[in-house]
Amino acid sequence: MKKIVSLILALCMMLAFAGCGASEKEVLKVALSPDFAPMEFVDTSKTGQDSYVGFDVTLAKYIAEGLGKELEILPMSFDACQVAVQTGAVDMSISGFSWTEERAANYNLSDYYYAGENETEQVIITVAANDGAFPEAASFSGKKVAAQNASLQLELCKSQLPEDCEIVEVGDLTTAFLQLQNGDFDALAVAKGQADVFIANNPGEIVICGFAFEVDAAYEANVIMLPKGADELTAKVNELLAAAYEAGYYGEWYAEALELAGAETAADVTYDDEGNIAG
Ligand code: ARG
Repeated sequence: MKKIVSLILALCMMLAFAGCGASEKEVLKVALSPDFAPMEFVDTSKTGQDSYVGFDVTLAKYIAEGLGKELEILPMSFDACQVAVQTGAVDMSISGFSWTEERAANYNLSDYYYAGENETEQVIITVAANDGAFPEAASFSGKKVAAQNASLQLELCKSQLPEDCEIVEVGDLTTAFLQLQNGDFDALAVAKGQADVFIANNPGEIVICGFAFEVDAAYEANVIMLPKGADELTAKVNELLAAAYEAGYYGEWYAEALELAGAETAADVTYDDEGNIAG
């Protein structure tokens, strides 16, 4: 009897302790679309929360820690990330967002953070067999070019490619890359940083087209997306971003992310005017 009582007591204590541990820290829910190396991607050697890696994941951990919260990453498609923020299903999305006027009108956007050279250029990639075939916008006449749903790249395709270019909207960039290799479309619009990763991981198979989008400087750095009106949280996030910048973390985080993406040398690749790998 005594034994049973002490067993029950021990159980109660364990439960109380576990309950205490769980309620001790609030959870910070962050949506991201892990198809955008080196910003956010999946480490297939890991499972669960640990499998999401990249610059934005490091940033999300840093923000959660700074807010004294426990990070929960919710992986979803890039367009779903935006809906999740809008409906308040998540606290924020850290997913390589470029600042755009439309987003600024519909969401709270953080101050800029810098992710190396990831989005200083917006490019179009194609298979090596098409090397040199797309030196200018007009070369995409009658061709199929893919871009991600609800992305800056899609906007750039719509505004800078010829009217008779068929623009294919894709949900997931990892799948889109396989489709490109499979010949489902002629080319894929991506951030230069992601192009570097694709090329480094598929040497000799993929090239950057000679044509590159004209990009406003406002799109070069990234922002965190929060619900419209979440001003207090946005202000705290901005303080943390400023502190990360001061501490010089961004360069370190980007180099780490590139290495994890298997492309630590990607930034060293240089291209000639035709978009062919030089040398
Ligand atoms: N920077 C671009 C944008 O804001 C692309 C971001 C894509 N991010 C992603 N995780 N797939 O539209």
